[in-house]
Amino acid sequence: MKIQSLKGTNDILPSEIKEWHLLENVCHTLFELYGYEEIRTPIIEKTELFKRSVGETTDIVQKEMFTFKDNAERNICLRPEETAAVARAFIQHNLTNKTGMAKLYYIGPMFRSERPQAGRYRQFNQFGVEAIGSHSPHLDAELIALMDEFVTTIGLKNYKILINSLGCKKDREIYKKKLLEYTQKDKNIFNNLCSDCKRRIKSNPLRVLDCKNPECHKLIKKFPTPQDYLCDDCKEHYNKVKLLLDSLKIEYEEDSLLVRGLDYYNRTTFELVHGGLGAQNAIIAGGRYDNLISSFGGPDTGACGFAGGMERLLLACEAEKINLPLKDSLSVYIVTLDESYYKYGFDILHALRKNGIKAHISYETKSLKSQMRQANKLNSRFAIIIGEDEIKSKKYTLKDMQEHKQELVDKKTLLNKIIKLNG
Ligand code: HAM
Repeated sequence: MKIQSLKGTNDILPSEIKEWHLLENVCHTLFELYGYEEIRTPIIEKTELFKRSVGETTDIVQKEMFTFKDNAERNICLRPEETAAVARAFIQHNLTNKTGMAKLYYIGPMFRSERPQAGRYRQFNQFGVEAIGSHSPHLDAELIALMDEFVTTIGLKNYKILINSLGCKKDREIYKKKLLEYTQKDKNIFNNLCSDCKRRIKSNPLRVLDCKNPECHKLIKKFPTPQDYLCDDCKEHYNKVKLLLDSLKIEYEEDSLLVRGLDYYNRTTFELVHGGLGAQNAIIAGGRYDNLISSFGGPDTGACGFAGGMERLLLACEAEKINLPLKDSLSVYIVTLDESYYKYGFDILHALRKNGIKAHISYETKSLKSQMRQANKLNSRFAIIIGEDEIKSKKYTLKDMQEHKQELVDKKTLLNKIIKLNG
């Protein structure tokens, strides 16, 4: 029996990897332009890290983490997200820079044991940024602008930015009470909620707003929202975020039901959703998490960030038929017609590669016909033939596979010609 990969995991094949490299390069270039530095944290962490940050009652912690015990009976898990890990590393290594901030970005695999479907996998790849050290609404707006810049750089058009404010801890306590009162004053409301929502309304009421059950959704549309209970400070913060976004001409929609599936958020939350993705339509999501660092024993400091799914980003590019500008070197195939000519073949091979040209050679001396067939299969633009005549004349046959022309040239001319054409 052939062994297959695990359900919900994907091989990224050689035919796909160029697109990944390209998107990863956009992350490196753009995030660094905005002053972020890369961090790489371990894939395994203590389970407690996510229980205490993402939240005990969230779906991620209750149902989706891949956990196991190590040899010393410690609870370990594969990271389901990166914000908590970055917060841990920030405190552990005291990462604040000279300006009093830490601006960090990451790219890497995350793991959630969800029911796989298009755009939802058990191992998926996130890119993300975390800015730790400021409570300023300007930071929230800058992050939303960066998110917008990121997708426009890639060429996406069919997307929308949704924003909301969840208020501070106190606001959330008040909202929690109001929501419970609202759903309990009319038995019809409570009774018509799904069993998950009946449970969540007491344990984690914000999650109710996010319920995908159509019956719940009808009721939820009339629910009071966190925005109705923002204190003056939180209202001011939210207004400043919007004002700055307006001045930057970033288009957004307010969605007062936008809550996130992770507990650490407060104040601004946002999502970038795409029209071509079906149910799993959020490509990038994030928000403020001002209490997380101090809850881990770090300084009392504001923080905000976002993360996006690489697979969903690629699906969105596919939906919009975006041709990512994948630059590839033209390819050259070296045909050697005798074992003793290999030293000349490898000399050219080496020179081409040193000049950034992709070059192949046949490791076995096969017939000219068979090697030319290989050159065709590898999509080679040129074949360089080294046979008896070439050795005698100290020149090489350069065959242009596209123009169907060939000429006998010396090494210098040959290299110049190919390098020039490669651009
Ligand atoms: P999240 O909404 O759980 O937030 O995930 C962010 C993004 O990761 C999603 O919008 C989606 O593109 C991708 N994603 C999540 N789960 C899956 C999955 N099972 N399969 C494929 N893609 C997935 C966070 O993870 C927060 N840490 C974001 C953040 C950073 N907030 C502040 N800083």
